[in-house]
Amino acid sequence: MIRTFAFYNHKGGVSKTTTTFNLAAFLAERCGKKVLLIDADPQNNLTENFFAPPVEEQDDQLPGTSIYEALRPRFEGSTGKIDVSNLELPLHKKYKNLYILRGDWNFSLAERFFSSALALAITESVHEKNTYNVLNNLIQDLITYHQFDHVLVDLGPSSGAITNLALLSCDGYFIPVTPDRFCTQAVESLSNLIKIWIERHERTIATFPAFGVVTFPGNLPACLIGMEACSGPVRFFMTLFRKFTNFPDLDQRRSGSYLPRSRCA
Ligand SMILES: Nc1ncnc2c1ncn2[C@@H]1O[C@H](COP(=O)(O)OP(=O)(O)O)[C@@H](O)[C@H]1O
Ligand SMILES: [Mg+2]
Repeated sequence: MIRTFAFYNHKGGVSKTTTTFNLAAFLAERCGKKVLLIDADPQNNLTENFFAPPVEEQDDQLPGTSIYEALRPRFEGSTGKIDVSNLELPLHKKYKNLYILRGDWNFSLAERFFSSALALAITESVHEKNTYNVLNNLIQDLITYHQFDHVLVDLGPSSGAITNLALLSCDGYFIPVTPDRFCTQAVESLSNLIKIWIERHERTIATFPAFGVVTFPGNLPACLIGMEACSGPVRFFMTLFRKFTNFPDLDQRRSGSYLPRSRCA
């Protein structure tokens, strides 16, 4: 079963965040699943959606632990693994079972730590190997500790180190697209990009056991074989937004007349 997944496209504005939030609300509210959202986009849009009513008043005092606060002990080198029992995951006010590890504008500071880990985890540096592992370990430990059925990770459009390591921590991913020329180009280049990420990932984690560091192959490489250059058995899903998003408070506040109508592949 795919437990952890993301909607990723390195093109902005294709409904990554909206779909992530709406599907999570659907899984939690309609399917009775216990669901964790992780906002791994430093732009914080998913977090804004999650806390929409209170955020207008208390933008700088969101409840719960942020993803950056959670990972900071590793970036400061003080711990190999994060103790998830100390992390506070707020529950959504309306959707029972829906939790968030919220975003943080400061999470963009993590880019340099993850960039360094991506470049140097293949060397003898155990510190960099631990940083390379930290996001995946955090997700797996949160699943185990809280017994989540699903984890949905929201990613920014960047193809930088945060996105790279967050996506590698997922079991699978969807590519939200709009039916236009730009998305066709984006999907083609995405398949090449992710192939490179996976090849580098495999070379990197092959060096871990010799240093006693656990690896995380995950299931993503297997999922991706099929999408090579879009010539393989890529599966397109119709998004029935009207059906999935019958949650009247979602997004209507911000965009007024927003009524999702798209039925795009
Ligand atoms: N199915 C949809 N139909 C119409 N508008 C949508 C739909 N999904 C998202 N939007 C709108 O498109 C814009 C971009 O969506 P967003 O989820 O922020 O994209 P991304 O996370 O890929 O940048 C937002 O204004 C959002 O309200
Ligand atoms: Mg987004």
